[in-house]
Amino acid sequence: MKLFVKNIGTLAGLNPDGLLKRKGAEMSILLSISDAWLFATDGIITAYGSICGDNATAVSYEQQADTVVDAEGGTVLPSFCDSHTHIVFAGSREQEFVDKINGLSYAEIARKGGGILNSADRLHNLSEDELYEQSMHRVREIIKKGTGAVEIKSGYGLSTEDELKMLRVIRRIKETTPLKVMSTFLGAHAVARGYSQSDYVNLVINEMIPAVAAEGLADFIDVFCDEGFFTFEETSRILEAGARYGMRGKIHGEELAPSGGVEVALKHSALSVDHLESMTDEDIEMMRDTDTMPTALPGTSFFLNMPFAPGRKMISAGLPLAIASDYNPGSTPSGDMKFAISLACIKMRLQPEEAINAATINGAAAMGLSNSYGSLAPGMVANFFITQPIPSLAFIPYAYTTPIIRRVFLQGKEVE
Ligand code: NIG
Ligand code: FE
Repeated sequence: MKLFVKNIGTLAGLNPDGLLKRKGAEMSILLSISDAWLFATDGIITAYGSICGDNATAVSYEQQADTVVDAEGGTVLPSFCDSHTHIVFAGSREQEFVDKINGLSYAEIARKGGGILNSADRLHNLSEDELYEQSMHRVREIIKKGTGAVEIKSGYGLSTEDELKMLRVIRRIKETTPLKVMSTFLGAHAVARGYSQSDYVNLVINEMIPAVAAEGLADFIDVFCDEGFFTFEETSRILEAGARYGMRGKIHGEELAPSGGVEVALKHSALSVDHLESMTDEDIEMMRDTDTMPTALPGTSFFLNMPFAPGRKMISAGLPLAIASDYNPGSTPSGDMKFAISLACIKMRLQPEEAINAATINGAAAMGLSNSYGSLAPGMVANFFITQPIPSLAFIPYAYTTPIIRRVFLQGKEVE
């Protein structure tokens, strides 16, 4: 199948050099051309160009195409790469939202038996089919909002059987949608009821990880390394056990308090360390010249009304930065990456280009996917969206509730 997209006002997120991430000052570079066209063959981008000074090439590609799409002057961007979500969950937790309005903190709600344990109870009572249907509702929503690659975590099961149920639902989403899906085992999200902390950690290591690996259900392993959840030592043991089965780490760290999350992530060469609201200057220093992607979740800070990760500081120190939604029922009931970009600009003082790179190429890098996703170049998967005509790229975070995305293409096919 040959797709030709014409009349593109601005074609942005180009990556002719095949970069795998952008860091420091390079993050403000969002390569783009105007009056552009794009060509994809069997779901892979094969060519692009501008009609300025060379209309003939565009005409010859258009003649070869079996599908011609008119972008009507809109902007084309690579689909968002949301590298941190908990999109498979049961029900919703708006009562806790009200508790928060009334003054309870996230940690207090968790201690009352709300939070993650509340979601685990609901998930336990739902069949695999029902869980899939509920989750697909959210998957369809994020596709419409421009996400083309997503990481999804388990972690609302908290028993071997229910963790496997979640991971099988993630696999089914992988198999039944055009989204690129990466799956992460997060058995160490909270201690299940009826277990001591150490018995639960042993269950994760000795029973859950081998069971997950036996079915090949997880690409990555995650631990909620934070005050009141899992310690540095427990996280280290769990990451080591995951590594024995080929699962690379993606850590929740430095959210509620400085937790050693950065240090433990680096010790185990984790792919990313996420949250970072309580990140210190020493953590930033430690992360220099490492392969671990710092990932901020600005929607979480917004919804929980807590400090934002020091994104500006990280980029100014030369680090790369990814942003992700953290879509989950407790701390961020939204998978809207455009809104995350706006928050990154407004609250973390990122430039629009930096925030877009954080949500595309660097998000892809935080899933190990940036050789095929998160930017536009020949050889990359044709995952992109077309906006309404916009005056400039800065309009994207500026118009922070305007639904500017008109058409979405995944694997070179339009998603209606
Ligand atoms: O990333 N921080 C840990 N886990 C989720 C929230 C989970 C929940 O409240 O359900 C997060 O924010
Ligand atoms: Fe999370």
